[in-house]
Amino acid sequence: MAATILDGKKCSEMRLEILKEEIGECGLHPHLATVIAGKDPASQMYVRMKHRACEQVGIGSVGIELPGDISTQKVLEKVRQLNADPDIDGILVQLPLPKGIDSERIIEAIDPAKDVDGYHPENMGLLFSGKPRFTSCTPTGIMTLLAEYKIPVAGARAVIAGRSIDVGRPMAALLLNADATVTICHSKTRNLADELKRADILVSAVGKAHFIRPEMVKPGATVIDVGINQLEGKLVGDVDFAAVREIAGAITPVPGGVGPMTIATLMENTLKAAKVRACSSAR
Ligand SMILES: NC(=O)c1ccc[n+]([C@@H]2O[C@H](COP(=O)([O-])OP(=O)(O)OC[C@H]3O[C@@H](n4cnc5c(N)ncnc54)[C@H](OP(=O)(O)O)[C@@H]3O)[C@@H](O)[C@H]2O)c1
Repeated sequence: MAATILDGKKCSEMRLEILKEEIGECGLHPHLATVIAGKDPASQMYVRMKHRACEQVGIGSVGIELPGDISTQKVLEKVRQLNADPDIDGILVQLPLPKGIDSERIIEAIDPAKDVDGYHPENMGLLFSGKPRFTSCTPTGIMTLLAEYKIPVAGARAVIAGRSIDVGRPMAALLLNADATVTICHSKTRNLADELKRADILVSAVGKAHFIRPEMVKPGATVIDVGINQLEGKLVGDVDFAAVREIAGAITPVPGGVGPMTIATLMENTLKAAKVRACSSAR
């Protein structure tokens, strides 16, 4: 039997509707600032989608566009201005930044209370110590999707391909916090297919089209495809979707799976930041 499709687009739309209502009722006017440097078309498209989602739910947004040859110092100045701006609740610096900009220093400069992407070391540390505050949007969106489809996580064997700071590592921490038994694989992993084949929940965040083939997947497993790749002019994930859906129990499509959940989570994190700031300034 073909796998259940985990419809991230539908789930995200549902969550955005709920969020819109909540924002309308809570009396707060959350604001997100995005910072983009350079003219990478994919990054520009992601930022546009984030602003569109803000508009949809009633979050104010400010877009800061910087030239690709800007210095780290100038980006730092911009981030510090946003940190100090009382109207801004969340700051998102679109990655990857152009070569020559020190991304780590930029992320570390973001006020952790406004770090709605959850990349700041303080927020990462909280996540890994089991006391999450802001958690990165893609893995958090995946946890929401698993919950929405009632995929059991506690006790499940979860295997993640990819150990990036934005996906693989926080994904591992979130799954571990939810009581899964977690393995993280990467380019130096020996016998990758054997590791992946043990997974009840397989998350692929590698960035290679058709990297996950059916022989790497346990029958009945839940397969989460984070990858965004171009193949013959088409957008595809990491998973050979047509073949893997025949043996998986559940699977996310690309597009329409993880991507929309990432954006819904960013909106949720921005409202959360606004609420936390409102509470702390009321003290
Ligand atoms: N849908 C969304 O919202 C969303 C969000 C973020 C990213 N993405 C997409 O997800 C993909 C991954 O993104 P990322 O930022 O995590 O990428 P990344 O920073 O490039 O990380 C890729 C990871 O894959 C591992 N890898 C590469 N080749 C491998 C191999 N042959 N076997 C096992 N592991 C291998 C790398 O291992 P090493 O560490 O050893 O190099 C690395 O850990 C990209 O396609 C990206 O566009 C989608």
